[in-house]
Amino acid sequence: MDELINMLNTRGSKNSSKVLTENIERLNSSIQSILNQQIKNELISSQIYRAMSMCLDAKGYVNASKVYFKYANEELEHMNKIYNYMLERNCKPLVPECPLQKLSYNDIREIIDESLKHEMKVSSQWEEIAKVCLENKDNTTYEFSSWFLKEQVEEENKFRDLLYRINLGIHDWELEELFKSKI
Ligand SMILES: [Fe+2]
Ligand SMILES: [Fe+2]
Repeated sequence: MDELINMLNTRGSKNSSKVLTENIERLNSSIQSILNQQIKNELISSQIYRAMSMCLDAKGYVNASKVYFKYANEELEHMNKIYNYMLERNCKPLVPECPLQKLSYNDIREIIDESLKHEMKVSSQWEEIAKVCLENKDNTTYEFSSWFLKEQVEEENKFRDLLYRINLGIHDWELEELFKSKI
């Protein structure tokens, strides 16, 4: 019973000892905390790609810049997906601050290489979330995290594929044509 009471959110019931069923938060504090951290991580991803988009445009890679801008928006969708999931589970997601990200890169290869490294880091963040879900026996959030784990496989592949093409000697104009098809 104590455990149940601890789980109850007493929002809106300050003047009453009765806890309303509809106020029960459906994620425990460990899960809420790691999901809130990931909301921030996805926002950081978005800002990294936005900065890369700006750099690519400045270097004349107009199509690559547009695609990176799209990537930045996709990361915001990821952030919103977690945000909405927490609301659905009757929890209060945090609205995070975002530190300033790196604003200059030497060349397009460095940008794509850093993108792959970053996605590998995000993959390990989601692996950790899945692990915490299992430890907490939270099957619902584990299921939620599996969508992101699958997404990360695609995210890593898309940048790895570009690096392989660069290694094979693809010309800059061909790379731009390739990005054009991804806009
Ligand atoms: Fe993401
Ligand atoms: Fe991503």
